[in-house]
Amino acid sequence: MTPLIEVQKIGKTYGSVIALRDVSTVVHAGQVTCVLGDNGAGKSTLIKILAGVHQHDRGEFLVEGAPVRFSSPREALDRGIATVYQDLAVVPLMSVWRNFFLGSEPTVGWGPFRALDRRKARETTKKALSDMGIDLRDVEQPVGTLSGGERQCVAIARAVHFGAKVLILDEPTAALGVKQAGVVLKYVAQARDRGLGVVLITHNPHHAYPVADRFLLLKRGAALGSYEKADIDLPELTRQMAGGAELEALEHELRQAGTAG
Ligand SMILES: Nc1ncnc2c1ncn2[C@@H]1O[C@H](COP(=O)(O)OP(=O)(O)OP(=O)(O)O)[C@@H](O)[C@H]1O
Ligand SMILES: [Mg+2]
Repeated sequence: MTPLIEVQKIGKTYGSVIALRDVSTVVHAGQVTCVLGDNGAGKSTLIKILAGVHQHDRGEFLVEGAPVRFSSPREALDRGIATVYQDLAVVPLMSVWRNFFLGSEPTVGWGPFRALDRRKARETTKKALSDMGIDLRDVEQPVGTLSGGERQCVAIARAVHFGAKVLILDEPTAALGVKQAGVVLKYVAQARDRGLGVVLITHNPHHAYPVADRFLLLKRGAALGSYEKADIDLPELTRQMAGGAELEALEHELRQAGTAG
């Protein structure tokens, strides 16, 4: 099956900074590709390329088998690639349903008589949220009154509702407590089960492991490893993340230095 997204030996530099080098991965429909790495590893750079915010300057970026180079986030969105950023682009004082439809409001009438169909917008928002199992008391409440986890869930439901094929989430669980992170991961799994290809960015292997189908580990812009879930268990993934191999090499070096002296 042709992957929804494929990157082959992709690279990106900002001036003299090599942010990404020779990175390859795939995103399949109905699967979760998890991108892991420490601060500055290049995670956001990779997803900004996929989202049309930046352009790669090396390698290939394919969407449904065809090479692309997006010049704006709008182009990526038109190809069904929706991105939820960590600092969600919401308007805190606006209601949940207003935020849900931001930029895509359903209208009634035509031309100068066109008006926002509030009733329909409210009902659609309610239905889209409840279809995902999200139960908000009132879609009229300001988004600012929602918890961080609830906001992430609304953003996920929004992408699903507007027909995204690929859902990219940049550290959706970073600022959340254990319980809220669990809820967000549940909706990530639900988007996957609805057939979306998901790219989940995190630096927490415990959040990544239960929902992911494959892992891409980044370190200082390069791929430290790329694994299918069957090829790596949680302790090993955690060890890789913590730089386990490097620690062992250092230990070995220290031991040798000890016996030599
Ligand atoms: N717009 C930019 N201009 C110059 N350098 C940048 C820019 N964006 C990122 N970088 C650099 O590229 C490298 C990768 O950054 P990136 O934001 O992709 O990392 P990250 O893995 O998302 O880190 P974090 O976990 O902190 O979000 C870093 O060294 C960063 O300083
Ligand atoms: Mg980042």
